[in-house]
Amino acid sequence: PIEVVIRNYAAGSLVKRLAFNRGKKFSKPLIEFYYKCDQLNDPIINESHAVLLKLVKEEDIKKIKKISLKINNLMIKYFKKINLMLVDFKLEFGRFNGEVVLGDEFSPDGCRLWDKTTGKKMDKDRFREELGGVLEAYCEVAERLGIVFDH
Ligand code: TMP
Repeated sequence: PIEVVIRNYAAGSLVKRLAFNRGKKFSKPLIEFYYKCDQLNDPIINESHAVLLKLVKEEDIKKIKKISLKINNLMIKYFKKINLMLVDFKLEFGRFNGEVVLGDEFSPDGCRLWDKTTGKKMDKDRFREELGGVLEAYCEVAERLGIVFDH
């Protein structure tokens, strides 16, 4: 029950919690863990909390971080090709046959994408911040990716 958040630029809850300027580019990706617990409002936790709460084994944290950083590298390049900055995203993991596996989808619902030229938000923040044009932005991402979309 952990959400793994990878951040390449400061945005969202991070700039509310800490004194980072929105849009600040990090020299290396920031990895955060959140405990999925509605009663506690999904608090941010560190690796020690996660292990002591028995949410994950220490050796699995290493694997989760390695896979997350690999996905980050791949997805930064993937979105760069269509002129989008991958600001941050969330991933969830599980176990299958004893192995740590990714158990998630990747869409503008679970990441932040900003247009490299205009800075336009192309993700769920359009909904969260009531900016309008949610469907249009999602369709544009799909179209830039070459996904045929009938709308
Ligand atoms: P945050 O800035 O609100 O902490 O979100 C960081 C990233 O994680 C952002 O791309 C949105 C994504 N996210 C989810 O997909 N689901 C969630 O429940 C949360 C809290 C964040």
